[in-house]
Amino acid sequence: MSSPVVARPKPCLVTVQAGRTYHWCACGRSAKQPFCDGSHRGTEFTPVKFVAGPKDEELLFCGCKQTRTAPFCDGAHSNLPGGSPLDDPRSEANRAVPVVGQRDGARALLNGECYVFSPELASMSERGSLRYCYMVSGEFGARYQTQLFLEVSADPSPAMTLGDRDVILFIGAGSGTVEISGRTFPVSATDGVYVRPSEAMRLTATAGQTMKVFVLACPLGKIEWLASIPTNFDASCEQRVVSVDAEQRTAMGPRYYQVLVDKRIGSQVITQFIGHIPPSKAAPHRHLYEEAIIVLSGEGYMWTEDRKARVRAGDVIFLPRKQLHSLEATSAEGIDVVGVICPGDNPSINYYD
Ligand code: FES
Repeated sequence: MSSPVVARPKPCLVTVQAGRTYHWCACGRSAKQPFCDGSHRGTEFTPVKFVAGPKDEELLFCGCKQTRTAPFCDGAHSNLPGGSPLDDPRSEANRAVPVVGQRDGARALLNGECYVFSPELASMSERGSLRYCYMVSGEFGARYQTQLFLEVSADPSPAMTLGDRDVILFIGAGSGTVEISGRTFPVSATDGVYVRPSEAMRLTATAGQTMKVFVLACPLGKIEWLASIPTNFDASCEQRVVSVDAEQRTAMGPRYYQVLVDKRIGSQVITQFIGHIPPSKAAPHRHLYEEAIIVLSGEGYMWTEDRKARVRAGDVIFLPRKQLHSLEATSAEGIDVVGVICPGDNPSINYYD
């Protein structure tokens, strides 16, 4: 079979109307991208029919025609020539962009409701051996997710739950155990951990260590403290810890990522990944999901429309849905990040204006 024409190396954002039928162009020859205008006649391609659901919604249709999830973008465009455009941070326009001076406590405020949260500037609450703070919440503009930073050392933490929500942990430093509703899992730095809705958890650091843990829950919610840990472990999902494995990496232009916790182990609305950004600045782009990005190593800047904020290891970037942005790595070794997207299952899907 011959290859389709790359109509455009990026997806097309379309608001589809409830119940309406669409025909997606598979050959790439249509002048009405992303939809068919009959130009496939005489080729071996046929359009893909799509019937919209019961509500109007915004969808990203594939423009490059290389997707494996037709008619929708699956991120394959990122690996095409021109599919991962870069931006010159030293261009005349970019040199005029100021570093934000405006802060709200631990948050450096960018455009929209985007911000960079620096935990070392946060006031931490304490409960027994646990120190914690909220980094992403409804109060800070999030629509879908809550994220907390926890530090535990010496004694086990109190038992806690985020109620009827999907919860994903990232072990940022140290090692120890995570007890989930009566089942105990050993964990160490860079592991992702999944806690099912209604389950509870308790964290214990290895003797002499401090375990630093990022906790993300979807939908929005508050932590509840429990007098003891319940034993309602959901045995229909046995695997709860996912470790870094270079064999599982996916290329995304010059970047790469590995999905940690996602629907394969039961998380339906949140997807967690670990990735690397070489020294570079991506062209400004947007996502249809809300995202929180933990910077694990390296330094750089988070850019939005008319400002940028310094980011360093330990910072968390909150990125609202559809916010124009670009993450620049300035360190020679690049930046390592952990991201959590929700709702969503594919961190390589982006779109450009
Ligand atoms: S535009 Fe084709 S996969 Fe994204």
